[in-house]
Amino acid sequence: MIRGEKLYEGKAKIVYATDDPDVYIQDFKDSATAFDGQKKGTIGGKGRMNNAISSRLFTLLEGNGIATHYLGAESDTAMRIRRLDMFKVEFVVRNVAAGSLSKRIGYPEGTLLRKPPIVEYYYKDDALGDPLLCMAHLEELQVISPEHLEAATVAAKHINSVLRGFFAERELTLVDFKLEFGTDADGVVRLGDEISPDTCRFWDAATGEKLDKDRFRRDLGGVEEAYAEVLRRISD
Ligand code: TMP
Ligand code: ASP
Repeated sequence: MIRGEKLYEGKAKIVYATDDPDVYIQDFKDSATAFDGQKKGTIGGKGRMNNAISSRLFTLLEGNGIATHYLGAESDTAMRIRRLDMFKVEFVVRNVAAGSLSKRIGYPEGTLLRKPPIVEYYYKDDALGDPLLCMAHLEELQVISPEHLEAATVAAKHINSVLRGFFAERELTLVDFKLEFGTDADGVVRLGDEISPDTCRFWDAATGEKLDKDRFRRDLGGVEEAYAEVLRRISD
């Protein structure tokens, strides 16, 4: 596929146009940021590992009837994706309390939620620091229609049930994760972005060891090793 103009460069990925207007190339980078870009670093091999992990998980989801933007492998660090019009909303799905939920409602990290999953909505707006939104805010902002919100929420819960089972078989607890959705040229709601240790919390089911970007955020060390371990466990 011919790699065209660079359309977008984010903290962890670059998106390129191709000769097909409905197909983009998403290339994963080794660079990492946290806390709204205040913390910056490089995780060796992350681009290759996140591409491999995301590709495996998108393929798994497609096999379970979930529409994604994934089209196929492009290179070691890149995949071909379908062009989507993205919603300006991030969907966070939680099974176990951690991170900002623990801070917000006072549950110690690791507390099982009463009726998992909780689905939260965040406004994709860097200037505002991606704030949590309640339903009234979503209705006010009109950044997503009620029908698309419902379709993406149903998909997020379905994705959670598929991924939770898949990771449980590999001795990993899927604590929480972030998803982004959009619509394709036919108006179908599809999962976009990535699913990787950058965007999920994975804990070893037996020991509780963190195997995700929290190792970078919290300076725990062994960051590359954690990503490699997730890739190893899902490569079958
Ligand atoms: P949080 O507990 O910090 O709100 O994060 C919840 C989940 O969302 C966690 O798995 C990490 C992921 N996440 C992202 O992918 N991008 C982000 O910018 C943030 C804040 C969280
Ligand atoms: N990637 C986000 C940032 O740079 C947040 C995070 O993953 O912690 O702020």
